Amino acid sequence: MQAMKNSIVAEACFRKATPEEVEEDKGSLLYRAVTYPFKAPLDFTYRIFGTLSMYFGGADVLSWKQPFIQTFIEKAFRLAGYDKHTLFMETLYSFKGTRRFLLDPVVVKELFKHHRKEDGLFRDTRTMEEIFNILKEVFPKEKFDKNSMMFTCSPEHTKRYRDLLEPFLNQEAIKNYIPEIQKTASEFIEEWAKKELIDVSLETRLYASRIITSLMFNNGRVSASISESVNYINYYIVKSIMGVTEEEKALYQKSLKDFRKAVTTILKQDRIPLFEGQEISESEKKAMIFILFFAGQETTSSLLTYILFQLALNPKLQNTLYSSLRSVNDERFENLKNRSRKINTFFLEMLRKFPPVYGTGRRCDNEICLVYRLRDEDFQRKTIIQEDDIVVPLMIKLAENPEWRCFPFGEGVNACPGRVLAFYEISELILKLIEGYTIHTNQNENEVKISAKVTLQFDNSPKIWFEPRIKDESTSSKKYD
Ligand code: HEM
Repeated sequence: MQAMKNSIVAEACFRKATPEEVEEDKGSLLYRAVTYPFKAPLDFTYRIFGTLSMYFGGADVLSWKQPFIQTFIEKAFRLAGYDKHTLFMETLYSFKGTRRFLLDPVVVKELFKHHRKEDGLFRDTRTMEEIFNILKEVFPKEKFDKNSMMFTCSPEHTKRYRDLLEPFLNQEAIKNYIPEIQKTASEFIEEWAKKELIDVSLETRLYASRIITSLMFNNGRVSASISESVNYINYYIVKSIMGVTEEEKALYQKSLKDFRKAVTTILKQDRIPLFEGQEISESEKKAMIFILFFAGQETTSSLLTYILFQLALNPKLQNTLYSSLRSVNDERFENLKNRSRKINTFFLEMLRKFPPVYGTGRRCDNEICLVYRLRDEDFQRKTIIQEDDIVVPLMIKLAENPEWRCFPFGEGVNACPGRVLAFYEISELILKLIEGYTIHTNQNENEVKISAKVTLQFDNSPKIWFEPRIKDESTSSKKYD
């Protein structure tokens, strides 16, 4: 494998560790004898501070930090030639498990080659198990096995579900939905334009939910109750790692009930486009609807919230986007292709700055050997990752380096099947909006706090408003009419 520009690692590979490799990783007898008296107290200290950091960070994963003393000691070991993996793998020890954050694109790409669940290597993370338990709680009478749900299913089932989704979510299929997406976008913009102040998180959540309910399930009416419940359940998953209040539990129960009601309404319909002509059981249908909302709503909504707020903060950005799209329209040459190229660049730029799936974990099913070669070395090194550790590629950190790939939609076997839909639902709305309106806010960037729950989320929603755009007719594309 080729190193990416400036990556720390030149090549890497994850595989099951042999017993000899596990032994070797512990170091020579001399090394073990020297470090023995410090090992247990240090391990305890790391876990105490790691757990405290999680406790105080609450439902914001990015504020979970390894303790200073650990960073310091790791640096000393690196200088002495040991544990070079700490250059690209940050470890957070805690009494709630050990997390290994991956910070190098070559290592992340290698991890994504493996299925989320691969015999002997990876199994469900606690978050995935939690989502599966929520599915069971939503439909307590149903008998689900883990293979009914996309996030927890085996590789064979993943293929089956992806084959079901593919005809719906591929590039060509989505192009046929563009008129429907544009219609929904126009309806939302029209409503938003009437409001004095738009609650962006709430409205984008409704929009993302409406697109899924209308296109895939032929029912736009249930989107409001679904969107609220999915949002709350997402919050609850991360919060529940460190404990929840009675009030939070009650709200969670209400969310489950609302979600169940909405899915039952969908399933009562005669026609559900996604399942037409498919051999799929009732419980698989329920799990599929559940997962599509889980994967497709908060992700799209939080990116769209970010984009709208950035545009509102930055009139120059609005004008640049408007002018570049206008000039493309004026060219009248490969009109659509150029238009989508411009908006594509804008979309990818936003996604890099704000990857809603900031990181996504894999839990080790065994002791795993990570074999790697650093860029400036010509020999391989190895490190052992313990069974049960959660390996998390941190896309948000990769995105900080503009020369690196940052995998906002994942990669490989479990890469996002909804990426094209996400692109069109966001870009069609932005195009329509920027063409007719200017976007404004009274807030500044610091007033809106972002935290990392299952996806990146705005803790307090940005507030914006629109004004009709005053068009300069002399440069209008109408001159060609
Ligand atoms: C900006 C919007 C979106 C982003 C950033 C995003 C990102 C991702 C990422 C990173 C993964 C891979 C997770 C992993 O490997 O563990 C994923 C998986 C998935 N996404 Fe998306 N997604 C978005 C929108 C959507 C939409 C609109 C849908 C469908 C309506 C969707 C459906 C799915 C599904 C079903 C999976 C699971 C795939 C599998 O397990 O094989 N996503 N998404």
